Amino acid sequence: MTCPIRLQKVTESATFKYSKLAKDKEIDLTIGRTGFDTPQIIRDATKKALDEGKVHYTTSKGIPELRGLISRKLKEENKIPGLDKDNILVSAGAKHIIYEAIMSIIQRGDVVALPNPSWVSYESIINLSEGEIAWLPLKPEKGFIPDDDFFSALENSHPKLIMLNSPNNPTGAVYPEKIIKKIVDIAQRNESIILSDEIYEKIIYEGEHFSAGTIYEDTITVNGFSKEYSMTGWRLGYAASPNMELINRMSLIQAQTVSCAVSFVQYGALEAFTDEAREDVTCMVEALKERRDYLINRFKKTKAVIEKPSGAFYVFPFIEGSDDLLFADSLMENGVGVIPGSPFGSSGRGCIRISYGATGLDELEKAADRIESALK
Ligand SMILES: Cc1ncc(COP(=O)(O)O)c(C=O)c1O
Repeated sequence: MTCPIRLQKVTESATFKYSKLAKDKEIDLTIGRTGFDTPQIIRDATKKALDEGKVHYTTSKGIPELRGLISRKLKEENKIPGLDKDNILVSAGAKHIIYEAIMSIIQRGDVVALPNPSWVSYESIINLSEGEIAWLPLKPEKGFIPDDDFFSALENSHPKLIMLNSPNNPTGAVYPEKIIKKIVDIAQRNESIILSDEIYEKIIYEGEHFSAGTIYEDTITVNGFSKEYSMTGWRLGYAASPNMELINRMSLIQAQTVSCAVSFVQYGALEAFTDEAREDVTCMVEALKERRDYLINRFKKTKAVIEKPSGAFYVFPFIEGSDDLLFADSLMENGVGVIPGSPFGSSGRGCIRISYGATGLDELEKAADRIESALK
């Protein structure tokens, strides 16, 4: 049986693979989520929706009430112009939305500019679309914030699509406004579309989030409920763009694949926009910041290169001269699960991704002791 060419370059997700390996380890720092529960108000509203019989297909793009709240949020908080509920597409997770976006833009040979390192699924989805990746180098000593080398690689690649992700997985970097504006300038010159994945938007400790969609119409802004509201298992994400052609193409894929996001989950998510749900998020971010600060202080005392990341719940230290795959294996043998950096791209070589989202300070201290002795 011949495997279709478009599938041949797709590999198992390294994050899923190492998370599986770490399951029975004493300390698991591989997890791409927080350990907090979904806010009570969202859970209650979802149960109520189920009891009220909201169990059938919804309109493929998502219930109008939810799309209305999302467009209001994007207008008021992110200052993205040109949006109303018709410009919003709700789907089964941001990952599926990203799949729909890439599949509706890219065909064989089209260039997609991808920061190096990047979240593992972008590469696989681009490979599924048979696009060509132009990798944009990032450096640990710059805190993985784009520099001149990144900008010239971007300019010279003339991409059809630029992938942006701030706050970033795996580095935790938050791109300042002026960096996003430079990327938008290049996109404008090359007539590239930008896909701005803002799933960690609310998990920022210093600085401000800036959406490319604020200043560039050909942007697809992607966000979701997984990280902010600890709803990874609920599968709910969304895309927005003032460019209706893009939204219509994505909607077509959606209608012919998943049909719609889960009905009662959409009704529950209406409560995510309340003060009560947002207070839970604020408490979560405070706890995450404490963990980030603790880890950074510990790493600063080692030979690892690390700039304090301002967002998400990952640190991505670089260990000069180390083979990240072997280092991750040896930590795994020592009871600490982490993800090696190279599956995120060649600039991730020598790095490890540590998630502190689901691990409290006591456990982090134990993990840091073991990592520190492995580094000696
Ligand atoms: C950068 C990034 N985008 C998107 C996703 C997927 O989010 P969702 O659970 O909404 O599919 C993840 C999950 O790890 C992520 O890290």
